Amino acid sequence: MDPITEAIWNDDLKEIQKLISSGEDINKRSEFSGQTPIYLALQKNKKEIVRYLVENGANLNIIDNNGLTPLMIAVDSESHDMVEFLLSYGANVDAVNEYGETCLHKVIDQNSKISYILLSYGANPFLKDIDNKLPLDYATNGRTVSFLERYSNKFRDYSPALFFDFVNEYKNIAMELGNKFMIDVNKLKEISPIIKGAFGDIWKGTYNGNVVAIKKFLKEMRGLNLEIFYREVALLIKCKHPNIVETIGFHLFKKEDPIKNIYPTCIVLEYFKTGSLSERIKKLLKKNLRLKKETIISYAIDIAEGMKYLHNMGVIHRDLKSGNILITNENHLKIIDFGLSRFKPGVTNITTEMSIGVGTFNWMAPEILRGESDYTPKVDVYSYGLVLWQMVFREIPYKKLLLHKGREEFRSKVGFGKTSLRIPKRSYLPDEFINLMARCWDYNPNNRPEFSEICEILKEIKNKK
Ligand SMILES: Nc1ncnc2c1ncn2[C@@H]1O[C@H](COP(=O)(O)OP(=O)(O)O)[C@@H](O)[C@H]1O
Ligand SMILES: [Mg+2]
Repeated sequence: MDPITEAIWNDDLKEIQKLISSGEDINKRSEFSGQTPIYLALQKNKKEIVRYLVENGANLNIIDNNGLTPLMIAVDSESHDMVEFLLSYGANVDAVNEYGETCLHKVIDQNSKISYILLSYGANPFLKDIDNKLPLDYATNGRTVSFLERYSNKFRDYSPALFFDFVNEYKNIAMELGNKFMIDVNKLKEISPIIKGAFGDIWKGTYNGNVVAIKKFLKEMRGLNLEIFYREVALLIKCKHPNIVETIGFHLFKKEDPIKNIYPTCIVLEYFKTGSLSERIKKLLKKNLRLKKETIISYAIDIAEGMKYLHNMGVIHRDLKSGNILITNENHLKIIDFGLSRFKPGVTNITTEMSIGVGTFNWMAPEILRGESDYTPKVDVYSYGLVLWQMVFREIPYKKLLLHKGREEFRSKVGFGKTSLRIPKRSYLPDEFINLMARCWDYNPNNRPEFSEICEILKEIKNKK
């Protein structure tokens, strides 16, 4: 046996390092299969070894005697982190095997996360195999179709032609946007971090001398991902409403562009120094204070007005919670953090597992918890109900249940209507308010009111007293 092959079998990274530094060929092909060591390391899912080989010059665009590339091996073993890793080191995303199939053909109906990764690295969805089929022609199962639907709300009836239109639509918007809303990074200055996250930071800064918030996305956007990003930013910028935070513009990180290269992809927002509703509630609780009745009603109206507007714009927020609501200097509320959730690393809305992986379990509507993909804007009404509850009780909804019972039990309880939040027998808020709040988190989405109705009821309540 070839010594590197043997060391891979033995999972002996040290031995491999020794062999390579003593001059063994990292790209030595097996006579029989035409495969180099990286193939075996991928087949055996030895991630450390794969990393070492790649970083030390393993050829990623080699083709074995069966027409397979290392990327195809990683795709076949459904190892999404290896797929992403190989792509980030320049593996050809559109390589074809002897049947004319690309990786996308193979995986589109099997693994939506990998499909998404391939598309985001620019995979061409219009390459045909030797049967003259597009990857999307193999999309038959519900999950795949729902994955495709995520590209747009109106994308209900799947067909390759429609998909094609979409991609083009993204491209047009992207080009239009490029000139219009791109900010000049030279005029952008950071002042201090607001939130330093592991994945992307939010900074207080200035743009053109005005105070702004800068929300950074560390990931490089490419291919379809980039076009979706453009599209979402276009939507954010179009959303102008007193209860929605204003998006001023955005900047795009480009590897090829050495001058602008310095600054990561980010969006620039109007800045509010008071912080979020969540922080406000936490502080009140510490001092054992409550939000005044009038404040709760006025806040409730602000959020409902903002959400009514978003729904009219065709946007489902999907992550409405007190941490995603800011307080202005005039004590009004503005909704933030919608539209771009798919670009948070580790968070994509493609499959249920993934949207369930987001840290906002508590506010998630039962139908999302159950993993349904055909949910409606009423999921936001549910989350809204929980925000109202939090303003009244000053507690994070379902905090204890999640803490003591864990996610699985939470999911099986809330997701199947076996539990819901407690409703106070006596409250300092009017009964109409409490009833409205409970209607919002009704288990059945059809029983939840629309935001337009919520606004009307709340205004009546406000005027009554
Ligand atoms: N425009 C802004 N002005 C002031 N603070 C902000 C602004 N945008 C976000 N923040 C702060 O950063 C936090 C996270 O922002 P968000 O957009 O929700 O990011 P994430 O995607 O990490 O959840 C908010 O809860 C708020 O405290
Ligand atoms: Mg947020």
